[in-house]
Amino acid sequence: MNDSEPERHRLAALLASKGVLTSPLLREALETVPCEQFLHPGVFLDEGRAWRPVTALGTASDEWLKIAYSVDTLTTQLDGHLTADQVGEPVAGVPTSSSTDPTTVVSMIEALDLTAEHRVLEIGTGTGYSTALMCHYLGEDNVTTIEVDPQVAARADAALETVGYSTWTMTGDGLLGHPRRAPYDRVIATCAVRRIPHTWIRQTRPGGVVLSTVGSWPWGTGLAKVTVGDDGTAEGAIIGRSSFMQARAQAATPVAGDLAARTAYADSERAALLSPLVLEEWMPAFLAQLAAPGAQFVRATDGDGSPLRYLFDAERESFAEFITDGESWTVRQGGSVALWDDIERSLVAWHDAGAPDIDAIRLRVTMTSHLYRIDHRSPSLRWEHRLA
Ligand SMILES: C[S@@+](CC[C@H](N)C(=O)[O-])C[C@H]1O[C@@H](n2cnc3c(N)ncnc32)[C@H](O)[C@@H]1O
Repeated sequence: MNDSEPERHRLAALLASKGVLTSPLLREALETVPCEQFLHPGVFLDEGRAWRPVTALGTASDEWLKIAYSVDTLTTQLDGHLTADQVGEPVAGVPTSSSTDPTTVVSMIEALDLTAEHRVLEIGTGTGYSTALMCHYLGEDNVTTIEVDPQVAARADAALETVGYSTWTMTGDGLLGHPRRAPYDRVIATCAVRRIPHTWIRQTRPGGVVLSTVGSWPWGTGLAKVTVGDDGTAEGAIIGRSSFMQARAQAATPVAGDLAARTAYADSERAALLSPLVLEEWMPAFLAQLAAPGAQFVRATDGDGSPLRYLFDAERESFAEFITDGESWTVRQGGSVALWDDIERSLVAWHDAGAPDIDAIRLRVTMTSHLYRIDHRSPSLRWEHRLA
């Protein structure tokens, strides 16, 4: 287990030099916890169109340590079941569990402002590495972690035991929290959620903090940090950009089938004031999700190769289709809501307000709603999401 000591120290020094790692206790955890123990049986490396399986057993130890201590996210499971030891060749698939890149892990733990006696609930155990870092910091009895996938949870639990932590690794849906060990001082989610479940607020003591990525697109999502009040509400802000795989029950079903048929009958057609391509940028994508929370953005090409863009909201049976002549865009909208009207209004107001970055967004969570706002006179910079 001592073999990786130089890599651990190198990684800690790197993160400290970037200003990501500042807490001495967390630095000690990084220098102590052997990350490679959490990557068994192996990882999938991104080769663009396929995932190349690399196993601990099938790789020279120096090469394995180089991979384990890289600054990248390492995918450990595809499609909800596949691990690297089960395939010999590169494969296609969708990542469903991973060891998050250390910069993100460390900056999130730093954002929790931990003190040694805090009790933490982690949602999305994954490999268990981030759990182990917090166990080193807080003691194993102060960390409860929940993983939805039984096999992933079992591997994480075994790795945690191997490195010496008999922590509370629970298998279940983290959206429900874990009331039996509540109240917590901190809740940290390492999967993204459409909205912060009120269970997390209820299970956190007043003054405690909930930290979670909010949104449902693969990009344009934000890290929410809210402090729980005495009255069952929580208040805070989006403190930065953040991207995580979606909580399993909330993963969006890809929009498939004949898109032309889905958009054949529009209620309106007009020139778009803004190009839909702005939605490929992070902050406009985040604002689009605030303005039209159920919408998905879809990229496609026409028969002649020209780009097409769509927004679909399955729940509200609505769509927006964008067509370009190469210079400007036309938007055709149909269904119960004019998705692009709502999004465009927010984007124009945001531009008029000086295009502030994501950390200008405040968030208030109650039992029945999420209220996002940018403090400005424009009513278009407030978005209230009410629970049905
Ligand atoms: C990005 S990985 C976790 C990374 C790990 N905590 C780390 O920092 O390296 C996200 C994990 O969340 C799990 N997950 C997804 N939805 C969940 C849910 N509803 N409850 C608990 N875990 C969930 C996935 O199975 C996956 O293992």
